Amino acid sequence: MLPDPVTALLRRLRGDAAITILTGAGISRESGLHTFRDADGVWAQVRLEDVATPQAFARDPETVQGFYNARRRSVLDPAVQPNAAHHALARLEQFWPGPLLLVTQNVDDLHDRAGSRHLIHMHGELLKIRCESCGLLMDWTRDLHTGEACPQCAGVGTLRPHIVWFGEMPLAMDAIGEALDATDLFISIGTSGNVYPAAGFVSQARAAGAATLEVNLEETEGAGLFHAGLYGPATVTVPALVDALLECAGVRC
Ligand code: APR
Repeated sequence: MLPDPVTALLRRLRGDAAITILTGAGISRESGLHTFRDADGVWAQVRLEDVATPQAFARDPETVQGFYNARRRSVLDPAVQPNAAHHALARLEQFWPGPLLLVTQNVDDLHDRAGSRHLIHMHGELLKIRCESCGLLMDWTRDLHTGEACPQCAGVGTLRPHIVWFGEMPLAMDAIGEALDATDLFISIGTSGNVYPAAGFVSQARAAGAATLEVNLEETEGAGLFHAGLYGPATVTVPALVDALLECAGVRC
């Protein structure tokens, strides 16, 4: 049973409405992956300035490679699987009659494995690396070390995680902006709304006339920017939200 403000918001949607969804680390928490800013989060273990900036990579590439090697291994752990929230979003993409875009800040592949295809990884992907010299982008599932040579240009020390670091421009921002300007419903799931430009998406969607919904474990500091909120663990709230959306669209699935 959804809170009345959420039900009322969904009821106003056309059956072919455009939906844009933003996810953050919270949607992967129940799959066993840490978030960033929770008490047990990634940034409580290591300083982002030491591992997640271009300056850190230039200063100490092996430490940066080691940080991402550990995170890549954790995503590849067989115990880490898409959870009910990832699967619910893939089901929504499959059955929703209107346009749907899923933008994730997450660099894990759990949305991909759950079956989401209209998906943008705006902060990159742990299971890809790229060459800073020739631009080669390739799948990568083992550890990467500084001495590895690029298979395309033979450059050494030029291979890096395909991750958007602080101070770098996120990926596919034009496509994301177009979707936000045309969306009827913007849903933010499992993100603290601490990092721009993602944190500004709700304001851009609202300015374009969209209904906006925050889905999180608890109210974030930006909760007041949304028309309504749905709070609880993502594996409970997201499937319930998807069921309600599909029911509103008259989709039996
Ligand atoms: N269900 C739903 N939400 C949850 C759950 C859960 N089980 N567990 C935690 N959350 C919520 C937290 O309440 C918090 O609001 O997930 C959010 C996680 O916030 P952050 O740790 O800040 O992660 P995120 O918002 O994805 O960070 C954005 O910052 O460090 C950069 O590049 C990194 O992509 C990341 C970006």
